[in-house]
Amino acid sequence: MRHLILGAAIALLLPVAAQAQDAAAGEKAFAPCKACHAFGKNGVGPDLKGVVGRKAGTHEGYNYSAALKNSGLTWDEATLKEWIKDPKAKVPGNKMVYPGLKDDKKLDDLIAYLKTQS
Ligand code: HEC
Repeated sequence: MRHLILGAAIALLLPVAAQAQDAAAGEKAFAPCKACHAFGKNGVGPDLKGVVGRKAGTHEGYNYSAALKNSGLTWDEATLKEWIKDPKAKVPGNKMVYPGLKDDKKLDDLIAYLKTQS
């Protein structure tokens, strides 16, 4: 009986642990972004708190490029992934000076991390 309960507890906890790990790896992948981005305030780049699900170019008090403001994008996971992978290709004329992150695993982790900052 004890084993059964323990087994069930582990089965319940495993997915949570896997998720936490991705977000933790994502926090590391976010390190280069910190040069320009923070959560809770604008810097060189716009505040990224709650960015997942937000309309592009709409954070209050930040002076976006016309390109991003008029992109009509909403930052769902797929769109964010394409943007971070290759910002220039996704929104030509934007002003984020970042070459792009090409590693799919790191991209997924990074987005898992962004989702924790809501
Ligand atoms: C050299 C500075 C710089 C770096 C490094 C940088 N960004 Fe940016 N980021 C910007 C700027 C500037 C903008 C605004 C672009 C515009 O208005 O065209 C921006 C915009 C964004 C947006 C759109 C936000 C919104 O409100 O629409 C997201 C999402 C984003 N960056 C994520 C990232 C992530 C994730 C990284 C790291 C992988 C990163 N950025 C690295 C400067 C930077």
